[in-house]
Amino acid sequence: MSETNGTSGTGPRLRAVLESIPTYRPGRPAATGGPVAYKLSSNENPYPPLPGVMESALAAAASFNRYPDMACGALVEELAERFGVPTAHIATGTGSVGVAQQLVQATAGPGDEVIYAWRSFEAYPIITQVSGATSVQVPLTDGDVHDLDAMADAITDRTRLIFVCNPNNPTGTVVRRAELERFLDRVPSDVLVVLDEAYKEFIRDPEVPDGLAIYRERPNVAVLRTFSKAYGLAGLRVGFAVAHEPVAAALRKTAVPFGVSQVAQDAAVASLRAEDELLGRVGSLVCERTRVYDGLVEQGWTVPETHANFVWLRLGERTVDFAAACEQAGVVVRPFPGEGVRVTIGETEGNDIFLRTTETFRKEHY
Ligand SMILES: Cc1ncc(COP(=O)(O)O)c(C=O)c1O
Repeated sequence: MSETNGTSGTGPRLRAVLESIPTYRPGRPAATGGPVAYKLSSNENPYPPLPGVMESALAAAASFNRYPDMACGALVEELAERFGVPTAHIATGTGSVGVAQQLVQATAGPGDEVIYAWRSFEAYPIITQVSGATSVQVPLTDGDVHDLDAMADAITDRTRLIFVCNPNNPTGTVVRRAELERFLDRVPSDVLVVLDEAYKEFIRDPEVPDGLAIYRERPNVAVLRTFSKAYGLAGLRVGFAVAHEPVAAALRKTAVPFGVSQVAQDAAVASLRAEDELLGRVGSLVCERTRVYDGLVEQGWTVPETHANFVWLRLGERTVDFAAACEQAGVVVRPFPGEGVRVTIGETEGNDIFLRTTETFRKEHY
């Protein structure tokens, strides 16, 4: 039949660009049924949901025969009040990766360029190519930090969007206020700069700017935030951007209708109201981060200073072997073969296993 209707019999024609798009690789889950295993591969929050947040989610679940509030009204109101911004400046989506995709779709298509550091969040190349736009990857510096001068030099008249991931995933490094302002001064006003602050709540360095302060002064800056990390709602999929109009309005147009469930919306509102307790947990994770970082340095590793809920070990060719050693010891980490591993700060026991593994691995291989 395919021969007679003029097709080659190979099935529906898909866009050629899909062939070159890397598949998003989620962090591997911890093994079940085996020895104790800790998942340190996805930068999640190791704490279970707070009782109040759980109650809100369960109450919303009772009416999941209905569509959610498409405008995420209660959540948008709550966020607008918290940040002192107009509700029209807030756009929500299915996780901040969903909002990142909306941002690319709103700004860049075939022939356009999207600039970001590399290595950085692995969704950037995917969402850029899905949009038909071209990725311009600017290597991190030797210290694993964004090379903002090189990123500014990479701007052309085809550039439509620039991601600045602060802190950067997977290195945990940051750009500070003065260098970011200097960079932004070089970006043309018709190019959108997205400050991806998925790990904002883990930052303790006062020189690292709050993207919201920058957005207020600059109409071409949007800030991306998520409930997945510090707020512990990764499984519910809700993130948001704060941006001036018309960017925020464009995000509402490129959103998947009803993409944020009512369970997610109500849990996010409850999380904001339980912020003191949640941020207390973040404080504990930051203490653990210091302990893990110091432990690694003491063992002799060179580790970039991390401002997020993970550490980055540049292991090069030893990356895959090290990840296997971790798994054998009972922790799952995130390897980037040939480059390094990203290890989330998790439960104390998991962090301890990781530190014991690094110690043994170092003695055996260095
Ligand atoms: C830098 C960065 N941005 C965005 C995201 C997306 O998170 P979510 O879609 O869960 O909000 C992640 C997740 O790992 C990330 O590391």
